[in-house]
Amino acid sequence: MLNPPFQSRFPVIAIDGPAKSGKSTVARNLAKKLHVIHLNSGALFRAVALQAKRNGIALEDESAVSVLPDAMQFVFSLESTGETTLRIDSHAVAGELEAREVGEWASSIATYPKLREKLLLIQRRASDEHPLVVEGRDAGTVVFPNARWKFYLDAPAEVRADRLFLQLRQSGELKADEDSAAHLAQISADLAKRDLRDSTRSIAPQVAAPDAEIIDCGDLSVSEVVDRIAERVGPAFSS
Ligand code: DC
Repeated sequence: MLNPPFQSRFPVIAIDGPAKSGKSTVARNLAKKLHVIHLNSGALFRAVALQAKRNGIALEDESAVSVLPDAMQFVFSLESTGETTLRIDSHAVAGELEAREVGEWASSIATYPKLREKLLLIQRRASDEHPLVVEGRDAGTVVFPNARWKFYLDAPAEVRADRLFLQLRQSGELKADEDSAAHLAQISADLAKRDLRDSTRSIAPQVAAPDAEIIDCGDLSVSEVVDRIAERVGPAFSS
């Protein structure tokens, strides 16, 4: 007999979507508005990839990478500002996970079933302790299939590539005097490759759950998307 689908103790809003769809900003602002924990599951994959690199473990070494979370302690805490801090082994992490190459590394290890299983358990354990806004690729399909609210945020590939380009410019990862057209073309190609890898892998692919509301964020501002989700969820979320 199949196990019954996991039911979280606290309510969960699951937000999935491709890279640069806007889901991280929406999830963060929504969680802040509702004053609940924002669980960015991509940060877990990024943190494991970074840990592998720091420990000199090749990302292709599936068994060594997959045991890394066993020795990492992930703690999410809600600050008085409404922001969520992720601490790994007591150190607050944020900026160091955001680099584009860390996202690429994360995508490459995200195909490992044992690693996914471990990161799934970390997410489910968090839902035993707090209400959550969870964002990722499989929040509404695999991790929280019984989430009461599921959203899939999407945006056209060109819009997502433009966003990444601007972000890299602003962060200084791309210099203003570098050839913009060539960089944008490279960014679009990398993003397309990541989309393909994330959405075609056999385990927990990036896909909208059949019961998710799909929101095209191409023409909507972050606050419009946040307001739309908050309206759907209503006061029930905090109960
Ligand atoms: O959301 P992000 O860009 O931080 O995620 C980085 C990579 O991690 C993404 O390309 C695929 C992987 N990932 C995943 O497979 N499943 C998740 N729930 C979250 C991220």
